[in-house]
Amino acid sequence: MVYRLKEDFGDGLTNEELEIAWKLETMLVMSSQKKTICQPGSIYLDEIINTKPLQVLESSIFDGENNNLPVSKNLCRYAYYNDVIVGFICCEMKDIYGNWKNLYYSTIGVLPAYQRLGIGQQLLSFAVNTARSLKNVRELTLHARADNKPALELYKKNGFVVNLLIKNFYPRCKSDAYYLLLHTAN
Ligand SMILES: CC(C)(COP(=O)(O)OP(=O)(O)OC[C@H]1O[C@@H](n2cnc3c(N)ncnc32)[C@H](O)[C@@H]1OP(=O)(O)O)[C@@H](O)C(=O)NCCC(=O)NCCS
Repeated sequence: MVYRLKEDFGDGLTNEELEIAWKLETMLVMSSQKKTICQPGSIYLDEIINTKPLQVLESSIFDGENNNLPVSKNLCRYAYYNDVIVGFICCEMKDIYGNWKNLYYSTIGVLPAYQRLGIGQQLLSFAVNTARSLKNVRELTLHARADNKPALELYKKNGFVVNLLIKNFYPRCKSDAYYLLLHTAN
C-alpha cells in the first residue's frame, strides 16, 4: 500500500503518512485469519533505511520483543512481498581470531501470513551470499531456539550444522538454544 500510495501521489507523502500507511497495511494482514497468502506474488529484498517497520515487524513476529537490532546497510535486508514489507534479516560482523571474522545473524523473521512462500529462504540466501562474498569472513553463525522446528529445518536445508546446545539461552521463555554454523570461507 505504501508503495502504491507513492505511485499514486508521487513523493508528496510525508514520512509520517508513509509510516501510518505501512502500519495499517501490516495490521490488516496480521488481522487476516489466513495462515498463508495464496496468490502468487513478487518477492524482493532491499536495504533497511527506515527502521520503524523493523521495530513493528520484530515485535509482531517475536511476541512483543524489541531488541534494537543492529542495522547495517550492507548486512541487513527487508523482504517485500508485492511491494509490502513482510520480513527482515539482520546480521552483524564479529571478530573471531586473528584476521578472521564471523558473520553473525541476529535474527530473521517473516510475518505469519507470508510464511512458506520462500521468503525466509531468500533472506537466508542473502546472508549466505554476503558471508561468501566478504574477505576474511570464515563462517556464518546464529542462535536458534531448540524447539523452533521451522527455523531449524530452514538452517539444516542450507547446510548449517549444530555446534553447541546452550541451556536456558533465552531465559524469558525458558528455552535452550542451538548455536549453528555454516563454513563460508573458500
Ligand atoms: C523461520 C522462518 C523465517 C521461515 O520463513 P519462511 O518464509 O516461512 O520460509 P520458506 O518458505 O522460505 O521455507 C524454506 C524452508 O524452511 C523450512 N520450513 C519453513 N517453515 C517450515 C515449517 N513450518 N515446518 C517445517 N519446515 C519449515 C522448509 O525446509 C522450507 O523449505 P520447503 O518449503 O521447500 O519445505 C519463519 O518461519 C519465521 O519467521 N518464523 C518466526 C520467526 C523465527 O522463528 N525466526 C527464526 C529465529 S532463529
